Amino acid sequence: MLNEVVKGKTSEELLSDLEEFLPGGIVYRSTQDRSVRTIFSHGKGSRLWDVDGNEYIDYILGSAPMILGHAHPEVTKALHDRVDNGTQFMQPTDIMLKHAKKVVGAIEGAEKIKYTGTGSEAVFIALRLARGYTGKSKILKFEGAFHGTCDYVSFSTIPSLNLDFPNPEPDTQGIPKGVQDSVLIAPYNDPVYAEKIIRENKDDLAAVLLCPQTLHIPAEQGFIDTVRKVTKENGVLFILDEVVTGFRVAWGGAQSHYGVKPDLTILGKALGGGIGIGCLVGPNEIMQYLDPAKKSTGEYVQGSGTFTGNPLATTAGLAALNVLEQPGTYEKLYKMADRLSDNLQKICESLEVPAVILKQGPTVDLKFSDTPIKDYRSSLNKDNELHDNMAVELMKRGVFSHGTSFYISTVHTKEEIDETSNIFEQSLRKIRGLI
Ligand SMILES: Cc1ncc(COP(=O)(O)O)c(C=O)c1O
Repeated sequence: MLNEVVKGKTSEELLSDLEEFLPGGIVYRSTQDRSVRTIFSHGKGSRLWDVDGNEYIDYILGSAPMILGHAHPEVTKALHDRVDNGTQFMQPTDIMLKHAKKVVGAIEGAEKIKYTGTGSEAVFIALRLARGYTGKSKILKFEGAFHGTCDYVSFSTIPSLNLDFPNPEPDTQGIPKGVQDSVLIAPYNDPVYAEKIIRENKDDLAAVLLCPQTLHIPAEQGFIDTVRKVTKENGVLFILDEVVTGFRVAWGGAQSHYGVKPDLTILGKALGGGIGIGCLVGPNEIMQYLDPAKKSTGEYVQGSGTFTGNPLATTAGLAALNVLEQPGTYEKLYKMADRLSDNLQKICESLEVPAVILKQGPTVDLKFSDTPIKDYRSSLNKDNELHDNMAVELMKRGVFSHGTSFYISTVHTKEEIDETSNIFEQSLRKIRGLI
């Protein structure tokens, strides 16, 4: 059993200093209850430690990239060797080639790869590529889907206005009206509406952008198949955002699980072994637009960046992919996720707390809801207060998670899963006044 976390003077002082220098004192887009916010000092395997000496089981995994856990020995060794030999050339390297072969080989139908520095940048370039390739300007995304920070996708991620579809609600100030006019929004997991809106807008629509695990809700097979079929029939590109699901749901990404072949795939997170990276992959036919030799042909799309495919990220990424590729990796990840979700389900049933568990691959997300969740609007019917209280109680007991949402790594053991389940039960009992 982990010790109860005691927040000390050091993290408090550092938090106050950070608040002076960083907007809100944080780096992420959501806030966390101030009483449990802390400053981490280091991580190893499935654990993190903060500057006050508290230990946590980590289920955030650096917002998902650390699928092998922290400081994995293979990745760390490769990085040490790399650091001694230069980290940035803005030129192709032998290690980039090895990494590229591995990534392109994993994604069916992919022939070329375009590296970027982050997932957001890859989304931005994929959308520009779709416009350049099709000669059309609009994109369709789904309500509730987060695809990073680029303007074109910063709509209807957490909308509050319940606008009629396909009207987009900006997530933030600062987005030009012209961008808003080029974005359409559809409800997730609704094949009928998706088909209708794609057909109606086919003359202007460059691409449909879909994350197959939007809000951690797995895309329904019929929905994803419909999007694939109707985009193809109407000359619209189907872009699958596998930034979270790539190399996580399966070696070949969520698309191998669904048996669906998008026109372009966006990857990030697990791809870089913990160093910032992103990429898009696709067939020559489309990807050749990114070739600078085509500049004067009217078929060129610019997508360069200083740190794209840099030696550090591709070295860490290659080492991580070599480990992930070992037989049995995904079976173990799935087994741990099943164990956690079964445990949590039983605890909620025994305490008569309504819960819906969303699970796809090694991602487990428990919502305190008594109705099914299939899209953004149905996901709103949940007990947010209980969720927020659980986030605090779990953290106090040494479980670092996004509330009741958990990313499982290859190094989480069944003992840790059971320990986490016990902590979950104690936290829930405490909130319910049962202990
Ligand atoms: C589905 C999805 N796409 C794109 C992104 C953006 O990636 P990055 O944070 O590397 O820019 C994220 C980030 O969380 C994501 O979850």
